[in-house]
Amino acid sequence: MVVPSVDLPAALLRGADPADWQPQRWTGLRLDLGQVAHTVARALDYVGVDDRSHGRRVGLMCGRVAAELGWSPARQTEALITGMLHDCGVSSTDMHRKLTASMEWSGAEEHCLKGHAALSGFDPFACYAPAVRWHHTRWANLSPTVGAETRMMANLVFLCDRLDVQTAVFLTSHPPVDLLQARFTLFDSLAVHAGLLFDPVLLAGVRQAIHRDSFWLELQDDFLDRAIFEILDAHSQTVDVSFGDVLSLGAFLSQIVDAKSPFTRQHSLRVADLVEAMGGLLGYGGRRRDLLRLAGLLHDIGKLRTPDEILEKGGPLSVVERDCMRRHPMDSKLILIDLFPDTPLARWVSHHHEKINGQGYPYGLGGNDLDQETRLLTLCDIFQALSQNRPYRNRLQPAEIMTIMTGMRENGELDADLFALLDAHREEMYRIAIAED
Ligand SMILES: [Fe+2]
Ligand SMILES: [Fe+2]
Ligand SMILES: [Fe+2]
Ligand SMILES: [Fe+2]
Repeated sequence: MVVPSVDLPAALLRGADPADWQPQRWTGLRLDLGQVAHTVARALDYVGVDDRSHGRRVGLMCGRVAAELGWSPARQTEALITGMLHDCGVSSTDMHRKLTASMEWSGAEEHCLKGHAALSGFDPFACYAPAVRWHHTRWANLSPTVGAETRMMANLVFLCDRLDVQTAVFLTSHPPVDLLQARFTLFDSLAVHAGLLFDPVLLAGVRQAIHRDSFWLELQDDFLDRAIFEILDAHSQTVDVSFGDVLSLGAFLSQIVDAKSPFTRQHSLRVADLVEAMGGLLGYGGRRRDLLRLAGLLHDIGKLRTPDEILEKGGPLSVVERDCMRRHPMDSKLILIDLFPDTPLARWVSHHHEKINGQGYPYGLGGNDLDQETRLLTLCDIFQALSQNRPYRNRLQPAEIMTIMTGMRENGELDADLFALLDAHREEMYRIAIAED
C-alpha cells in the first residue's frame, strides 16, 4: 500500500467519509446468475455493432433445442446460459466479422481459449467454461477425453451459432417474414455436415425445433428477452456471492473490455489499481475502496459498443466518430444498473467524463454534482490513458502528463485537491499505471 507523503487537505478528508456512506450494505451481493449472464450477453452483443443480439439468440436457440431433445429443465437453462456466454472471448468487431463470414474460420480457436479462461476466473460461471472452450470444434474431432456432456453442449452451441449466422446472412437480403419459408433450406445447409461438423442427434433436435413458427418469431427483438426470461425465471439461480466473487466478475468483464483493442490493453485494470491506491491515500477502507476498484474495472464497459476503427484511428476523430465515442458512459451505466443495483457504481461510471467546470459529457454536470469517488475515477482515467500508447502518440512520461493535467486543472476541469495528491505521488502512480502483468 502507498503511504501518504503529504498532509491531506481538509477538504479531501471531509470527502473521505460522507454521512450517507453505508459500507456495511455491501458486504457481498445477491446475484441472479441468469440475469448476470443476460447482461453480459447484452454487453457482448454490442461488439457485433450491426448485428446486436447474436449471443442472446444463440442462447435461446440452445435452450429451445435442449427442450426438444428432452433434456432436464436445469440442463435447458445451462444450455441457454452457455449459449448466451459462448462468445465472451470476442471483443473486437473485426474478429466478430470474421466469425460470421464463413462456416469455419481457422482463427476461431483464439476466442474459445480466451472465453474459457475468462469464465474459469469467475467461480459461478466456471461450469460453462468447458463447453465454451470447444464450441468451434468439429463433432468428429472432439476428443472422448472432453466428456460426453461437454461434447454435446459444445456442439449444440456450435450448431446454433452457425444456424444464427446463416439466418443473419439470409436476412441481409430478405425480410424477416421470408424466414419461415426458408427455414428448411437453411437447416439443410447445416445438415449436410451431419457426423462431421455436427452431431446427428443434435441436428434431429434442431429439425424438430424449427418446425415451430415460435422458434423463429422468438428470435426477433420484440420477443427475444421475454422468451429468454421465461426459461431463466423458471429456474432462477439467485446466489449470495462474496465481494471477492464480485471483484472476480469485475475482472472477468474488464478483460473483455481491455481485449477489444491493443491500445486499451489493461487500461481498466490499471485504472482500478490507481483508484485503489489513491483511495488508500485518502483513507478509504473496506467496501468503499473495493467498490471504487470495481468502478475502475468497469468504467469503460460501454466501449464494447465503440467500433474498433474509432478506438484505433491514427488521426483526429471526425465529429460523428467523436459523438459515437462519447456515448460510452451511458452504455456503461445501462449495463451496471442491471448488474449492481443498490450501489453507486452506475452513477460513478456514467459520470467519469464529466468535468468540474461543467464542460464534460454526457450530462454536462458541474462540480457540485460530482462526488469525490467520481472525481477520483476521472483523474485516474486521464492519468492512465496518458501513460499508455495510443494510435496517434506514444506513452507520455510523468512530467509530460503532469504538464497536460496541470492545464486541465487550471481550466477548472479537475478536482484541484485530488490533483495535488496525485502530483505528490506521481512517480509511484506512474509505476502502477504502466505496470504489465
Ligand atoms: Fe464463437
Ligand atoms: Fe458466436
Ligand atoms: Fe471512458
Ligand atoms: Fe477509461
